[in-house]
Amino acid sequence: MNVLILGSGGREHAFAWKIAKSSSCNQLFIAPGNAGTAEVGTNINIDVNDFESIKEFVLTENVELVLVGPEDPLVNGIYNFFNEDKQLKDISLIGPSKEGAQLEGSKQFAKEFMFRHNIPTAKYQAFTKDNLAEGYTFLERLEAPYVLKADGLAAGKGVLILNDLQEAKDELKAMVKDAKFGNASSIVVIEEFLDGIELSVFILTDGNSYKILPSAKDYKRIGEGNTGLNTGGMGAISPVPFADRFYIEKVEREIIKPTVEGLKKDNIEYKGFIFIGLINVKGQPKVIEYNVRMGDPETEVVIPRIKSDLLNLLKGIDDGTFSEKDLNINEQAATTVMLVSRGYPQAYEKSKVISGIEDIKESIVFHAGTKNENEQLRTSGGRVIALTSFGENIEEALTKSFASAEKISFKGKYYRKDIGFDL
Ligand code: AMP
Ligand code: GLY
Repeated sequence: MNVLILGSGGREHAFAWKIAKSSSCNQLFIAPGNAGTAEVGTNINIDVNDFESIKEFVLTENVELVLVGPEDPLVNGIYNFFNEDKQLKDISLIGPSKEGAQLEGSKQFAKEFMFRHNIPTAKYQAFTKDNLAEGYTFLERLEAPYVLKADGLAAGKGVLILNDLQEAKDELKAMVKDAKFGNASSIVVIEEFLDGIELSVFILTDGNSYKILPSAKDYKRIGEGNTGLNTGGMGAISPVPFADRFYIEKVEREIIKPTVEGLKKDNIEYKGFIFIGLINVKGQPKVIEYNVRMGDPETEVVIPRIKSDLLNLLKGIDDGTFSEKDLNINEQAATTVMLVSRGYPQAYEKSKVISGIEDIKESIVFHAGTKNENEQLRTSGGRVIALTSFGENIEEALTKSFASAEKISFKGKYYRKDIGFDL
């Protein structure tokens, strides 16, 4: 079958790398893709939110399955766009309905969903400019640190964690009254601070049954020792050592099952990935967020550990055979280290020549922000390349990822040398 992947990061390169290996994959397209996806498929210059152009392309090229990488088109309703179109409705689109995407698109929707279905999460209340005074009172009743979350999508910047009560009140006002994050912060969720180690679990579901993918942990801060600004993610490891079989069984019982059953009870169509961000509070997993897609760079460690044919699994989602299919996982550990442009996540320079990739033998090179320009490979984003390696354990895999990181050069290259330091 012909497949189209939407997106252009390391996540999409990892998906493309995996799907290209499937014996059922005929032509593989990536929109818009990057220099890495161009090595395993054909890039097409269409924006992920340009649904009309996507439709035209899908019909012209006989695409039978569309895999959506980022959250934006999902929150914008690409699933419903396909489902409600006579010509597109028989094409498989892997991703939730617009309503399902609200699990990521609205923090308040996600919190209400979790409380409705008894899924462990932090206590919270939501506020707008109309009940700001109640928001102040709520903050006074909580203890520091204070967690403030813009309800809508804010490019990963919408969560503030503050130690000072007055500062928390000022920020609440800035968010709801002065539109600090635009429309996204017209509603703010204030929640109890959860103290513990974070990890992520991922599931793939057809809306009825689900499969649990390998767990992973990403490193979000730019600086070593988890300091400095938040980024999209500077590296990841899989599996997470403390998330053993018993722990994952607890997560399945208390979180995964009620989530999938909750979607069904609420009549929310969901065919795709769910990324569940957890905090382990003294052995009790609690949900801090849902994402309606895979994580980046988590995908770069989770997908390579899947031994089964991913396209075959995705095909099963629409033809009713998903629950019968096996998901086999490689027992080895996988790690990825992200090379970024100096300055990221703030302003950084682009178009730097990248060299040394041909010398990488011990890692898989996933491109994140790269492009070919005048027959030269150049940087085109803050996150540039993810280097994924396998090992008998995390340390062994990391040694390979770090050695590969040294071999690649571009002006302003930076990476964290302490991924996995806390394990
Ligand atoms: P989110 O966008 O909801 O994942 O939040 C971004 C980050 O803020 C998370 O990855 C956590 O590190 C942190 N965070 C979010 N909610 C809480 C909470 N209730 N308690 C402690 N940390 C939190
Ligand atoms: N790495 C975090 C995310 O994809 O949201």
